[in-house]
Amino acid sequence: MKILAIDTSCDDTCAAVLENDKILSNVISSQTDLHAKWGGVVPDIAKRAHAERIDAVIATALKRANPSVLRTSPFDKREKLTMIIENGMKEIDVIAVTIGPGLAIALGVGVNRAKELAQKYNKKIVAVNHVEGHILSNFAKNSQNKPDRKIEFPALVLTVSGGHTKLILMKNPSKSPSSKEDRGFDKGDFNPKYTVIGETLDDAAGEALDKASKMLGLGYPGGPIIERLALKGDIDWMKLPRPLSTQKTFDYSFSGLKTSFYYQIKDWPKEKISANLADLAASFQEAVFDSLLIKYKLAIKEFKPKTLLASGGVLANKDLRKKLRKLAKDFSLPIYMPFKKELNTDNAAMIGVVGYYKALRLEFVEDIENLDRMPRAEI
Ligand code: KG4
Ligand code: ZN
Repeated sequence: MKILAIDTSCDDTCAAVLENDKILSNVISSQTDLHAKWGGVVPDIAKRAHAERIDAVIATALKRANPSVLRTSPFDKREKLTMIIENGMKEIDVIAVTIGPGLAIALGVGVNRAKELAQKYNKKIVAVNHVEGHILSNFAKNSQNKPDRKIEFPALVLTVSGGHTKLILMKNPSKSPSSKEDRGFDKGDFNPKYTVIGETLDDAAGEALDKASKMLGLGYPGGPIIERLALKGDIDWMKLPRPLSTQKTFDYSFSGLKTSFYYQIKDWPKEKISANLADLAASFQEAVFDSLLIKYKLAIKEFKPKTLLASGGVLANKDLRKKLRKLAKDFSLPIYMPFKKELNTDNAAMIGVVGYYKALRLEFVEDIENLDRMPRAEI
């Protein structure tokens, strides 16, 4: 099965082509530079950029998956794109598109393009939840069919990005109603069920890092900047809270942490901030990651999963990955994270993986004409 996947849920225009769960191409056109000077994503700007880029991104994904789709090279750029899409779509069986959660007007660009392509080329559509995409990014494979992971259920999933911070219990329940057993991972019979056991009550972890970066007068996105600075800083330099850490729930909160950080530095002259950037970054990053780990640990004790899965943009952070590996080791549990960095941040390959399993279960959109974005879709 060949799948064209599309995601325009936030500020990256993404398209990918998969053969089943194998990634043949994964194209991401980042808009970071357009949003950077505003210190965050501006929906109108995102929408316009998606609309301008979507055809080129889809065409590139189709061409990388199969270079022979461009047989002759017309001079005109528009004609060239049209030809690649026409030829490329012949080989596609299913279109997988993110319908939510995300920015409404940004999502609309991808959803509308998917509908137009499905109608023009007579293809089926599967509607995909972006958060499920982040979860199943751990099930993606490269063109050599690697990695070959034996994922056992229940799995406890931590997804951390700029938009969400969630702890999710993932099961693949047995079809037999009398059995409480999990099916284990059987590709042809994979129908995962998710229970959100905890989530952030305010800011997402990535958002907190982005806001801290802004407070320090640094750029956007803040995560990678803070990571770089933190390497040389002292994690205990500033005392910061670990919100909700003493409560026996699995929810997160980062706004209190952000406020505490703000009040501690708000009257500092610029020179004092710039002289202590590394220590400030290290202390803040540690507080965010420690908060993530405290709840993950509590949830492992409570739900006794067989596997740990982690995903989302913040996992691009080496220190967080190291901390998660250590946690897994302490509990003697296997932990999996996306095998490639670009599978952590927003991408369409992860949407294609969800699309693949949904298509196997024949979960196609019945009324394509009326398919709509769902900005607040729940997992
Ligand atoms: O998954 P993603 O690309 O988009 C959303 O769905 O939100 O995640 C983006 C978030 C941003 O908040 C960004 O600051 C954070 O991931 N991020 C990082 C790193 N790279 C990206 N956070 C910490 N360390 C990084 N290296
Ligand atoms: Zn995301």
